[in-house]
Amino acid sequence: MNTFVTFTALLLVGLASTAPVNDDILHIDNELFPELFVIYTGENDITNLVVPVNSLNFEDEPDDEEAFASATAGIYIFFVEENKGLFVLQNKTATKLLENGNDISAASDDNKAVFFGASDGIYTFNAEKKTAEKYGTLTDNIINIAVANATNEIFILTADHIVYKVTEDGTNKEEVTEVKDAQQIVLDSSNNLYFVDNKKQVYVRLYEDGTVKKIKDLPAHPSSVKLLRPPIVIDDSVPVIAGKKAFLAYSNGTAEFAEIILDTKPTAYSVEPSLLVYAAHDKKIYEYNILNIVVLGLLQEGLEELSEVKSHFSGQTSEIQNMATKSMKTIRAN
Ligand SMILES: *[C@@H]1O[C@H](CO)[C@@H](O)[C@H](O)[C@H]1NC(C)=O
Ligand SMILES: *[C@@H]1O[C@H](CO)[C@@H](O)[C@H](O)[C@H]1NC(C)=O
Ligand SMILES: *[C@@H]1O[C@H](CO)[C@@H](O)[C@H](O)[C@H]1NC(C)=O
Repeated sequence: MNTFVTFTALLLVGLASTAPVNDDILHIDNELFPELFVIYTGENDITNLVVPVNSLNFEDEPDDEEAFASATAGIYIFFVEENKGLFVLQNKTATKLLENGNDISAASDDNKAVFFGASDGIYTFNAEKKTAEKYGTLTDNIINIAVANATNEIFILTADHIVYKVTEDGTNKEEVTEVKDAQQIVLDSSNNLYFVDNKKQVYVRLYEDGTVKKIKDLPAHPSSVKLLRPPIVIDDSVPVIAGKKAFLAYSNGTAEFAEIILDTKPTAYSVEPSLLVYAAHDKKIYEYNILNIVVLGLLQEGLEELSEVKSHFSGQTSEIQNMATKSMKTIRAN
């Protein structure tokens, strides 16, 4: 099992253990959304959720598990609520940043920048003032934005389904002509660009030479397809939800079933922080702190299932601790 699957599974297997589970396949159902994990309740569905894994959120490297356990205090969570706008959530307080913001992106590195794609161009986050400020001069209607790792490039997908590479501090854009009819875009850690076309097929455009490959091994006619931003601990791949099934799509053009079936579907996800998983479901945002649950056993009262999570994975606690340290070091190293 790869890292993404392992760490998502760590949480979900345990929580699902009261329900009948078919071999190794995880079924995500309503029981995985207990009220105790709610950090925000909206009026409408949450359609987008991003937790930047950069110095905005993880400035100091937690050198022990206790530091990681408190890492969610003060963390900035960005989301879009249908018909309401783009917000930042910190310490359970939501602040509206943009009426017309559609998407959020940050590179997983040691800067603090967060970018927003809006119906009239690109904005950046001002953390001191808790506001969005216009970035560059573009005025495109942007539906997806993806900030590249370790370069100063930003990829945008516009409402007319064209992908551009934005350079020169937001004043210049060049069409990425190899990408056609894109409906969604996501970058992996090597800046390969994955996109879904108007026939719900998934492709990858390699950063190195612009080659476009269709991803094999995915359902031929899925009812829906969603690309997720990858957890920072995985390389050269992104999670894909096709119909009810979760897959990992690799930059070599293959995909693998992640052994997860979504009987109920979150309306948005953020799995980038890896040991923290965020999901939006039925107008609410949920936070799952895997280290807290599994290693430290900080059991929240009234949630009996959590004691099973802990005992289920008690043999793997050192592996999880190592991963917590490693994922933070990865960020600091960039
Ligand atoms: C959020 O909570 C943390 C920890 O309690 C605190 O240090 C920080 O000042 C709070 N931030 C805001 C904006 O309230
Ligand atoms: C970002 O890119 C650098 C340079 O290519 C690479 O060493 C690093 O691993 C990348 N970061 C992540 C989070 O993958
Ligand atoms: C594609 O990459 C994945 C992940 O690195 C690997 O497991 C798989 O064997 C590769 N497939 C091919 C055909 O190279």
